[in-house]
Amino acid sequence: MTVLEAIQKSADFLGKKNVGSPRLHAELLLAHQLKLPRMKLYLNFDRVLTPAETDGLRELVKRRAAREPLQHITGATSFCGHEIAVNRHALVPRPETEQLAELGWKFLLTFNLQPSTALDFGTGTGCIAIAIAAKCPAAQITALDISADALALAQANALQNQVAERIEFLLGDGFAALKTGRQFDLIISNPPYIASAEIATLEPEVKDFDPRAALDGGPDGLDFYRRLAAAAGPFLKPDGKIMVEFGDGQAAAVKSIFEAEKWIVEAVQADYSQRDRILVAHH
Ligand SMILES: C[S@@+](CC[C@H](N)C(=O)[O-])C[C@H]1O[C@@H](n2cnc3c(N)ncnc32)[C@H](O)[C@@H]1O
Repeated sequence: MTVLEAIQKSADFLGKKNVGSPRLHAELLLAHQLKLPRMKLYLNFDRVLTPAETDGLRELVKRRAAREPLQHITGATSFCGHEIAVNRHALVPRPETEQLAELGWKFLLTFNLQPSTALDFGTGTGCIAIAIAAKCPAAQITALDISADALALAQANALQNQVAERIEFLLGDGFAALKTGRQFDLIISNPPYIASAEIATLEPEVKDFDPRAALDGGPDGLDFYRRLAAAAGPFLKPDGKIMVEFGDGQAAAVKSIFEAEKWIVEAVQADYSQRDRILVAHH
């Protein structure tokens, strides 16, 4: 079987299994199997696969057809230009969250090279903490998560991206994990925000592979915004900002939760598809 035939056959199979963008995924899986950048496949369409390569590809395609996320199969994703390892213990970083991380580092860069601090509440793979640490050389980040397995992954990712020495990894349930009196310039969070009952209706890639603790935002999906709005104040410096990502359609509710706790909402920002997804507030 040639590279081109392998792509076509795999894409057909993935399409029948309702995998979105089957041709792209077939190409990415084959590129992973052959350890080639995807674009290199195009220069090798006539290359004949060895039996071991064919077997390897078949296994990868089977996993994807069972709706395992591509990133779990390849073991990594890209976030703000950083390679981030992923596994079942943490949410696969989403492209929208890159915008949140960017807002965070742009704010900390206004400190110029003065030391600054940030709390990444619910760090998962560590993607936000790592992106901010990499962009802001004078920043110290605290990466907090309730999952020890997620924190271990975040720590490995930070080491791999050479920012581990400026990230403190903290295991615990929300602000209870922090000493009273600690204050940050920035509190940033992409918390779980799916309503509990809605989780079962999500795509298999999400409901079966992202950890429940990374998805479940309580009965209406808004529990973490209530917790953040009620408890973050004392942990934020007087000129600090809190930035949170939320789900499509939650903007008005999240804004009123923060306003009810006397936060001044300074911006609600849309993602690239013009849907409001991020709230920025201060004391
Ligand atoms: C939606 S995921 C976000 C992960 C990562 N920050 C990202 O944007 O890809 C939410 C994270 O919050 C963590 N989490 C859930 N409940 C928590 C709690 N009570 N305290 C701290 N972290 C919590 C989950 O384990 C998960 O890693």
